Amino acid sequence: MKNGLEDVVAAETQLSHVNGEAGELIIRGVSLDHLVGYASYEDVVALLVDGLVGTAPDRTELVRRLGQKRAEVFAHAGAIDDALLELPPVDIMRALIARLPDGDDLDTALRLLAAPAVFLTAALRLKRGESPVAPRPSLSHSADILAMLGAKVPMRQEVAALDAYLVTISDHGLNASTFASRVVASTKAGLTSSVLAAISALKGPLHGGAPGPVLDMLDAIETPENAETWLTRALDRGERLMGFGHRVYRVRDPRADALKGALRQLIAADPVNRDRIQLAEAVEQSALAILKARKPDRPLDVNVEFYTALLLDALKFPREAFTGVFAIGRTVGWVAHAREQALEGRLIRPRSIYVGPLPQQAA
Ligand code: COA
Repeated sequence: MKNGLEDVVAAETQLSHVNGEAGELIIRGVSLDHLVGYASYEDVVALLVDGLVGTAPDRTELVRRLGQKRAEVFAHAGAIDDALLELPPVDIMRALIARLPDGDDLDTALRLLAAPAVFLTAALRLKRGESPVAPRPSLSHSADILAMLGAKVPMRQEVAALDAYLVTISDHGLNASTFASRVVASTKAGLTSSVLAAISALKGPLHGGAPGPVLDMLDAIETPENAETWLTRALDRGERLMGFGHRVYRVRDPRADALKGALRQLIAADPVNRDRIQLAEAVEQSALAILKARKPDRPLDVNVEFYTALLLDALKFPREAFTGVFAIGRTVGWVAHAREQALEGRLIRPRSIYVGPLPQQAA
């Protein structure tokens, strides 16, 4: 038995490839470097779902149909009552998605792409005592997410930054939530059920719950001059540095640089966050040097969470929403994998080794 199924191949996929040695991510034949900054969220939706829920519409048609779906699911936001508002944003999102019909067609897929964006932004506004903002169906998905969050049409650079984030995290091999989605899909339960399972897997701190602590660390360090001492003391206490290290990547996580580039462009337009970025870069450099000296045999580099935290913070998402924003971007990967599994795979039913007592021993 392989604990955690490490190195076990459990699916064949045409959707994405994570090359941990080369630091490369390929999404359906296209390297991440050629997607971020060039492709919109809608382009990547088309790339990932084409052929799996029929032929994917083109970008213009996808913008229109996703906009319609956001408007359609907004009606369900009225179900957020006081009891639901007590829950973390990702749990509110999950509860509302559970009310949506199951299915395996393009219509169901688009509804599932629209729903997390509408439900998360509505929940965040209600939590801070504001009314939800109705979707504007003519906007692109990223633009409308920011409009629903902040109640004003966002700047072009903000939309570009969120697009870069959603594209960057759209799919990433057979991670825990994607595997959960495929397991459910293998029973032919339908896309809504698959996405619900995936969100449940994502919310754990070992998967999608990590970027908040990166901001906590930067807040604690405060200035670039404090970085080396603070990081050294944290490692001396046996702590891990948040935003560094990865199970698969043995070199730099390519998603980190994609997000760092998007962040640089964002602050060029909005210098408010410039000090924060300078602090982050100082912490990154200091951490890499210290980790290299302390763990010369274990390559530990920056991972996706480090710049995710800064980017989402600069876009004014509160820390408690980061996992939910991850779900907004990753749903397209879950949907594509669920359809690929349902179309080509068999029921996923591994075996276990029984290590409990035998009947006569238990008696
Ligand atoms: N800071 C300091 N040391 C770290 C480290 C980090 N961020 N990540 C790994 N290490 C060290 C471990 O202490 C261990 O050292 P040891 O062999 O002396 O005990 C060694 O590197 C291997 O750790 P291991 O837990 O086997 O690595 P992993 O590949 O299974 O873990 C992570 C991957 C992501 C869980 C791990 O790197 C981590 O905890 N990172 C911080 C949290 C984070 O950024 N999570 C988001 C991931 S996208």
